[in-house]
Amino acid sequence: MQQTSLFDTGERDVSRERLDALREAIREHDYRYYVLDAPSIPDAEYDRLMRELRQIESEHPQWIQPDSPSQRVGGSPREGFVAVRHARPMLSLNNAMDEAELADFDRRAREALGENALAYHAEAKIDGLAISLRYENGVLVRAATRGDGERGEDVTANVRTIACIPLRLMSTDRPAVLDVRGEIYMPRRGLRELNERLLAAGEKPFANPRNAAAGSLRQLDPRITATRPLSFFAYGWGELDGTSAPKTHSEMLARLRAWGLPVNPLNALVYGIDEARAYAARLLAARDSLDYDIDGAVFKLDRIADQEQLGFVARAPRWAVAFKFPPEEELTELLDVDWQVGRTGALTPVARLAPVHVGGVMVSNATLHNLDMIHQKDVWIGDTVIVRRAGDVIPEIVGRLIERRPAGARAIVPPRICPVCGSHVEQVDGEVALRCTGGLYCPAQRREAIRHFASRRAMDIDGLGEKIIIQLDEAGLVKRLDDLYRLRLEDVAALERMAEKSAQNLLDALEKSKTTTLARFLFALGIPEVGETTAQGLARHFGSLDALRDAACADLPTAEAERKKDRFPRLQAAPDVGLTIAAHIAGFFTEAHNREVIEGLLAVGVHWEAPSSAVGEQPLAGRTYVITGTLEGMTREEARAALEALGAKVSDSVSKKTTALIAGEAAGSKLARAQALGVPVLDAMGLAELIAPSR
Ligand code: IVH
Repeated sequence: MQQTSLFDTGERDVSRERLDALREAIREHDYRYYVLDAPSIPDAEYDRLMRELRQIESEHPQWIQPDSPSQRVGGSPREGFVAVRHARPMLSLNNAMDEAELADFDRRAREALGENALAYHAEAKIDGLAISLRYENGVLVRAATRGDGERGEDVTANVRTIACIPLRLMSTDRPAVLDVRGEIYMPRRGLRELNERLLAAGEKPFANPRNAAAGSLRQLDPRITATRPLSFFAYGWGELDGTSAPKTHSEMLARLRAWGLPVNPLNALVYGIDEARAYAARLLAARDSLDYDIDGAVFKLDRIADQEQLGFVARAPRWAVAFKFPPEEELTELLDVDWQVGRTGALTPVARLAPVHVGGVMVSNATLHNLDMIHQKDVWIGDTVIVRRAGDVIPEIVGRLIERRPAGARAIVPPRICPVCGSHVEQVDGEVALRCTGGLYCPAQRREAIRHFASRRAMDIDGLGEKIIIQLDEAGLVKRLDDLYRLRLEDVAALERMAEKSAQNLLDALEKSKTTTLARFLFALGIPEVGETTAQGLARHFGSLDALRDAACADLPTAEAERKKDRFPRLQAAPDVGLTIAAHIAGFFTEAHNREVIEGLLAVGVHWEAPSSAVGEQPLAGRTYVITGTLEGMTREEARAALEALGAKVSDSVSKKTTALIAGEAAGSKLARAQALGVPVLDAMGLAELIAPSR
């Protein structure tokens, strides 16, 4: 068939053919992407196909069918969910809590069937929620939750948004009626991303993937469900009509897979109890590495005739059993909260717990993330808390039982001084993290501080790499940054794998680094968020360390400034410095420990060239210049810095008040305006004279 597109032909019948071809292609790509996890075309190409399909459908609305891949999200919020009766009840499973109970199950089944070893279909027990998907003549007509097993809720509009669930079965050999049973779940990674989004929007995060899946499926507005990363595995069926009856469970799951339904790849056929046990052990070992929660292994008699012979008791089949894994959530008591200081100075609350077994390991610590999370989850010391350890993530506290809060419980209060070094703790506006301000002094931050200080764009200390920093730190030779400059040859040479020659090289490099620039020095201090450019701007703007230090310490926020959101005005006057950076700078310099380290560095001989004019002496104060065009030998930024260092103001637009316009090559409208207003014009030479040090 000739490749046609709606955009190059207006022929209706051609569009109709194209429409069918597009739907077929998109279904195939959905299947490859969401079910097989093996896409065969780039996303951009897929998007193009989908856009083309939507375009044709919008021009021919009469051709839209509910099973078109474009029709997943539709409709509007509903009032509530309609109850539906399941054609066949949705059952649950009996549990085997340990290997003995699993062996009992196997023995009873063998005795009932009079066989020595039985074939079981072994599956992962997915921790999500059960769903029934009804396909009539291959088209998804209804999705319902389990409810009480007899009656559930109609969640069709929401389920249609789950990309891996086919709206129409693949292949031609489709049954008249198929009621697929399976589990809807949320992958762990999807939950992490969803929770980040919810937190950023100021909403409450979900405690675990199961709650997240249930909460997402029970949205009244399917457009919200569509944004949630839900997935699905088929593991069984209810009504089946218009096709041959399967002989085995595994055969039927193979058919489901062929119809395009996702079936868990971890499924396997096992023979006898020993293989069943081995399967469970393998699955348990793989549990942490999976991207979804599982809470056990399920063993089902594979032969349907055997299943029918064993039948049901109450609401559970006698032919299947769930072998439960250790739970990934447990209750315990929150004894206390410690605050750990990371290498960048961020303080993280760590919960000290009454030891408890969770997900197969003993847990006595868990993260509480940050203060916002603590408030959101409303956890107090003394609370009975829910601890979760799933996958390879560190154990976390996901909630507390408010009804069990004891009388003596106390709220968690963050420390005001760093538990490691005693410096002040600050929380900068707009940041969730609490931070120790003793960046140069705090042992928790020492290695990181040295690494940054020594880096090429900072003090550029050749040979002071990660490994040596660790060795120096472990040997206790560098407690503060200025100790670097007090290192003796014999101390360094005594370090493991350090030849005398390299020790000498390091001392030489340290000596060389003492001669630096103010900008490099400021960058080297590692003030949070002060990068190279900001450091250069600060050096230019303040001209000296003293001037910056004064501004930082004098700029303490007053109550009035606080109200006017006009804090740190002197710092904020520097280029690139907004409220957050100003707060970091002020926090850094007001911390006495940091000032001591800076003094120490100056005392051992770290120095830089003073700027061209002495601070305080500002020969160009009160004058305003405008710079335009290309200047010879210097960038406009450099010219601006030189003028500002002498006290001049540099403005962007020419007015009558402009002292002079400095015009380089290719000056345009500003030059014309200056001439019109009679403002003096200087060239590059004129500028050079203006900023010459002789003045
Ligand atoms: S079979 C007649 N297989 O576990 C048997 N259930 O406690 C019906 N589940 O409600 C269930 N993974 O939500 C079966 N591979 C699996 C399963 C599974 C998870 C859930 C399902 C069911 C509950 C039973």
